[in-house]
This record gives sequence, structure tokens and C-alpha cells, in this order.
Amino acid sequence: MIDRIQKAAMILRQGGLVAFPTETVYGLGADASNPEALRKIFIAKQRPMDHPLIVHVGKLAQLENWVSSISETAYLLAHTFWPGPLTLIFNKHSQVNDLITGGQTTIGIRIPNHPIALSLLQEFGGGIAAPSANRFGRISPTSSEAVWEELNGAIDFILEGGVCDVGVESTILDVSGEQCVLLRPGMITKDQIENLIQKPILLKQKEIPRVSGSFESHYAPQTPTILVKELDHYLNQEHDFPIGIVSFQDVASEEFIAVKMSHDPKQYAHELYRVLRELDKQNLKKIIIETVPENAAWDAIRDRIAKASSR
Ligand code: TXA
Ligand code: MG
Repeated sequence: MIDRIQKAAMILRQGGLVAFPTETVYGLGADASNPEALRKIFIAKQRPMDHPLIVHVGKLAQLENWVSSISETAYLLAHTFWPGPLTLIFNKHSQVNDLITGGQTTIGIRIPNHPIALSLLQEFGGGIAAPSANRFGRISPTSSEAVWEELNGAIDFILEGGVCDVGVESTILDVSGEQCVLLRPGMITKDQIENLIQKPILLKQKEIPRVSGSFESHYAPQTPTILVKELDHYLNQEHDFPIGIVSFQDVASEEFIAVKMSHDPKQYAHELYRVLRELDKQNLKKIIIETVPENAAWDAIRDRIAKASSR
């Protein structure tokens, strides 16, 4: 009898789509060396074809199949943070399919830190291209149930792996040029990276449209969502009810469906997408999110709640 990891690897080899857990969010995986399989990702997600995909590999030694050069800094980052929630952008190997890179000269790679993802990568042997397993523009799934809600019918198999530990997508750092550029904040912070490499990293320019997560309408609930700094003041105004509230406070009132969040950014990130997804199902007039602290530990969360509320 074959186990589910073998079954998933077999589906990938046959050009099918497999959703699998990572420590950040669930990915929608396809054989990164099979153009037909890659095309299915874009169809299942309804994602524009020019948005590049991250290639997941199981071992550092596989990097050379996908990239053309690796700087000392990139090695240091990979050795330190992989397996883990960091995607590195390299200059691509000449053989890499345009469907992965969106026609760009660079490629995003990471080794995810989740036992099921690592077993799948080992069993499959090659690279697995995987965006988050949600429809384009929606909230990334952090449980297999959420993948089911998003992509039911559009994929061949979901590998169950419980609730994702980190809860928001990986940090994306471009290491293809002279200076490292942070393209998407994640739970591996700018400070952690700068402390390691002992030089400053640049922040993404607003105009660079290379990361689909950098389009402002991304990661958004369907329910109108707004970010509020002074929650008490806001709640005292006139409203159309019911309203969902995501804050650090105990809001006791029948008119509000309030979720009290943790002051610990790790715990907050772990819960954020599940909370937004739950509130989004409740036919609320709007969702209010209280702003979070300004320091680096909250960068990824500030980024995602800004995007959730930008429609
Ligand atoms: O945590 C994660 O990164 C998850 C899990 C499944 O690994 N994946 C994920 O994939 O969030 P996706 O496609 O939803 O977001 C990856 C982002 C995309 O916005 C894409 O534009 C960007 O990575 N990306 C991929 N390759 C790139 C490249 N060569 N240059 C710039 N951005 C790139
Ligand atoms: Mg995504």
C-alpha cells in the first residue's frame, strides 16, 4: 500500500496539482519542471500568467539546478534560515521555464520548514512550484479546510498537515544584485537579516510590480475592511451593524463580533488569516482592524492588515 506522501509525489509526477502544508501557509504545488502542470496552477488560482512562482526544494544542493549564481551573502542566509520562512530571489538558471519566472531573469526559491512538505520534497525529488493555495487576491489558507474552501474541485489532492505554525507568507528577499532588497516582509524580520549579514538591506520601491502580494488589493477579505488607530473613539460613532472587530481589547457588545488578538506578534500572525477568514463568512457590514505596534517584529502583520484593508 502506498502512503499519502507517495501518492502526492505520484500525482506531481503525472502533472497534477497537490496542495500541501508549509510552516507559513498551504501551497498549491506542481512539478516545477513541467510547463503543463505549471499552467494548471494559474488556471486553478485564476492568477495572471505573468506573476512568478516560488520553487520549493528539499535540499540546498538543489539550488544549482535553478539559479545561475549564488553570492556569499545568499549562502549565509540560506544556511542560517533554511528550512524556514524566507524566500530568496536569485538570477535564474538558463533552463528555467518562463511560467515560473513570469518572464523575468530572476527566480524565487525556498526550503520550507514543515515535516510533510520536506517529506514530499524528498519523495518527489525535484522542485515544486507553489504559490499560496488560494484564489487570486484572496486570503492565504492556513489549514486544509481553508484550502478546501478556496480550491475545492480545482486540485487533485490535499495533503493534510494541520494548522500552519507561522500563519503569514514567507519573507521575500532579493539577493540577485549587489544589495539585498526586501520585497515582502515576513516573520523573519529586516533586523534579523541585517544582524546576520552585517549590512543594510533596501526596502522595495513602491513601483516595482514584481511581487503579486505587492498589489494593494491582495490578501483581502470580501467584507469591507478598515484599519483604525483609535478604536474606542471609532466604536462610539454611528454604525451599520453587525461589525467584526480584530483588536487587542475586550470589546463586549452584541453589535460587534469581536476577536481579541495576542500582543505577541508570533501568536498574532499565527491567528490572523484564520480570524479574517472566519469573520468574512459572517455577513458583516464591515471588519475593523485595530492598528498594531510600529516596530520591526510587527512589519509582516502591518503589511498584511494594510493590504486586507486597502480595497
Ligand atoms: O510562504 C510562502 O511564500 C508561500 C508558501 C506556499 O511557500 N508561498 C507564497 O506564494 O506566498 P505566492 O505565489 O502566493 O507569493 C509569492 C510571491 C509572489 O507574489 C511572487 O510575485 C513573488 O513571490 N515572486 C516569485 N518569484 C519572484 C521573482 N523572481 N521576483 C520577484 N518576486 C517573485
Ligand atoms: Mg499568494
